[in-house]
Amino acid sequence: MGAGKSTVGPALAARLGRRFFDSDEEIERRAGRSIPAIFEDEGESGFRAREVAAIGSLAEHEDGAVVIALGGGAIVQPGALERLRARGEIVLLEADAAVLARRVGAGSGRPLLAGLSARARAERIEALLAERRPWYEAADHRVDADAGVDEVVDRIVAALRRDSGSGNGARRSMSESGARAPKRAARTGSKGAPASARPSKRSAKGEGRVHARVPVALADRSYAIELGQDWLTTIGRRIGDLLACERIALVTVPTVARRYAPRLSKGLTASGARVGRIVVPDGDATKNPRELARLWDRFLDLGLDRHSAVVTLGGGVVGDLGGFAAATFLRGIPFVQVPTTVLAMVDASIGGKTGINLARGKNLVGAFHQPRGVFIDIDTLRSLPRRERAAGAAELIKAAAIWDAELFAWLESEIEAFLDLEPSVVLHALERGCAIKAEVVARDEREGGLRRLLNFGHTLAHAIETHARYRGILHGEAVSIGMVFAAERSEALGLSPAGTRDRLAALLERAGLPTRAPDRPRRAYLSAIAVDKKKQGGNIHFVVLKGIGNAGTVSLSPREILPPGWKP
Ligand SMILES: NC(=O)c1ccc[n+]([C@@H]2O[C@H](COP(=O)([O-])OP(=O)(O)OC[C@H]3O[C@@H](n4cnc5c(N)ncnc54)[C@H](O)[C@@H]3O)[C@@H](O)[C@H]2O)c1
Ligand SMILES: [Zn+2]
Repeated sequence: MGAGKSTVGPALAARLGRRFFDSDEEIERRAGRSIPAIFEDEGESGFRAREVAAIGSLAEHEDGAVVIALGGGAIVQPGALERLRARGEIVLLEADAAVLARRVGAGSGRPLLAGLSARARAERIEALLAERRPWYEAADHRVDADAGVDEVVDRIVAALRRDSGSGNGARRSMSESGARAPKRAARTGSKGAPASARPSKRSAKGEGRVHARVPVALADRSYAIELGQDWLTTIGRRIGDLLACERIALVTVPTVARRYAPRLSKGLTASGARVGRIVVPDGDATKNPRELARLWDRFLDLGLDRHSAVVTLGGGVVGDLGGFAAATFLRGIPFVQVPTTVLAMVDASIGGKTGINLARGKNLVGAFHQPRGVFIDIDTLRSLPRRERAAGAAELIKAAAIWDAELFAWLESEIEAFLDLEPSVVLHALERGCAIKAEVVARDEREGGLRRLLNFGHTLAHAIETHARYRGILHGEAVSIGMVFAAERSEALGLSPAGTRDRLAALLERAGLPTRAPDRPRRAYLSAIAVDKKKQGGNIHFVVLKGIGNAGTVSLSPREILPPGWKP
C-alpha cells in the first residue's frame, strides 16, 4: 500500500494500450460494498476469498492482455502466485517502508492500518513487508517506485521489453517453471539445460545464485524454499543474513559433513556468525532420545542462547532430529534446513514436522516447528546413491499422483533424466514437488484433512517397514509398493478409472522402484495396519486415487483395506 499501483497502473495500461483493472475496485463492485465494510462484515478472510476470486476472473479476462493492480496482500493467498505467474508477468513496485508510510498518511480506507498512530502505522507497514517479502521477491520484475508516475511507467516498460528481448531468459524460464503446467519448452540448448540452470559465470565454487523460490504461506511463520545449483557458499551467506545471529550450530552427518560443510560454513562465517559443527551418526536409529539429549548438551557447549540458531545439513534424519532439538532447546530457537537428499528436498524439510523415534515406533515424539527457510543445492545430489535418488523420486511421483496430472505426465517423459541429474530437469521437478507440498501444508498446517493426502501409499508402506524392521528397504521403496497397492484398491472400489494403477506402476518401475509387496501372510499385514489404526484413533483415513492427479480419503477398517483373499 502506498506504492502507487492505483496511479501507475492506469498510466501503464494507457501506454500499452490495454484495459486497466484495480482488484480492490473490482471487489467493491462485485460486493456492492466498500472494502472497510467487507472487512467489518466478513473479516479479513472474507475479503481475501473475494480477492482471490476477483484476481482469478480478471486474469482470464475476455479482453485478453490487461493490466491489473493488486492489493499488497493478494499475492500471499494460497495459489494466487501460481495463478498469476501462469497468466502473465508480475511487477513489484518497490519502495521503503518510510516512503510508504508517508504516502498512505492517516490510512483512511485501509482496514489494516485503521486507528493506528503514525508511528504504529510505519511499524505495521514494516512488519507487513517483512512477512510478505518471500512472495514479493518472486515477482518477475522489481521496479523502484520512488519516482514520478511517468518515470515509473518508463521503468516498467523497459523491464518488460528487456524480458521479451532476451527470449527465454533466466527470469522468464523461472516464472514458467513456477506455473502449474510444467513446460517442456523450458528446456532449451544443446544439453537440454536453460541458461538459468547451467552454472553461470562465477568467481569460485559454491558461489552460484538462486534459481527459483517457492513460498510457504503460513502467516507469521511464512518462509521460502530456495533452489539453485553450485551455490552452497552463497546459501551460507543468505542464511547468515536471514538469521542475523551470533552463534549457529550446524548439525550434519559424516558423509555430508566431509563434502559440503566447509563451503556452507564459509558462507555462514562470512556473514559474521560463529559456527559450531555437530556431526551425528548416520542412519534412522540416530533419531533417538539419547542423541537428542546429546545435541542439547552440545548446544550448551557451543554457548547457544535464545538468539542463536540451528542449521541442519543432510537428509530427513538430520532435519527431523536437528529440527526437534531446535524446537525444544530453550523452548524453541530458529532453524534452517539445507536438505541433501531428494526425499528431504521435496518432503521432509518442508512443513515443520520434526521429531524422533522411540523403541516402539517411528516418529512418536515430536513438534511442529517451522524452519525460517529451506535452501536446496541440487549439486549435493551428485554424491547421493542412485537408489536413494529413486526412493526420493517415489515421494515426488506421489505428489504428482495426488495433486498434479501435468507434472505426472511430465515425469513420464523425464524420469530417467531426473535420475541422471540433468540440472534443468532436477530443478523443475524439485520446484514443482516443493510447491505441491508447500501448498498442501499452507492449507492444512496441522494435518486436519488435506495434508492426509500426502500419506498416499503410506498405509501399506508402514506395514512393510514394520515387518522389515526398517532394514533392507528404503522408505521411498515401501511407499512405491504402497502406492501401487492403494491405486489397485481405488480401482477395485470403483473410485478410479481402469488403467490408473498400471500407469502409476509403469512410472515407478522405470524409476527402478519395487511395486510388489514382500511375500507375507495377509494377517501379518493386517496386524501391522492395525497399529496405524490405533494411532488414528478409529478407522484409517485410507488415501485413494480418483485418477492421476486427484486423490481423496475413505474411512476404512484394516479388513476393508485388505479384503479376505488378498495376497501380496
Ligand atoms: N518431517 C517430515 O515431514 C518427514 C517427511 C518424510 C520423511 N521424514 C523422515 O526423513 C527420514 C528419511 O530421510 P532421508 O531419506 O533423507 O534419509 P537420511 O537422512 O537417512 O539420508 C539417507 C542416506 O543418504 C546419506 N546422504 C544424505 N545426503 C547425501 C548426499 N548428498 N550425498 C551422499 N549421501 C547422502 C545419509 O547419510 C543417509 O545414509 C526418516 O527419518 C523419515 O521419518 C520426515
Ligand atoms: Zn513418506
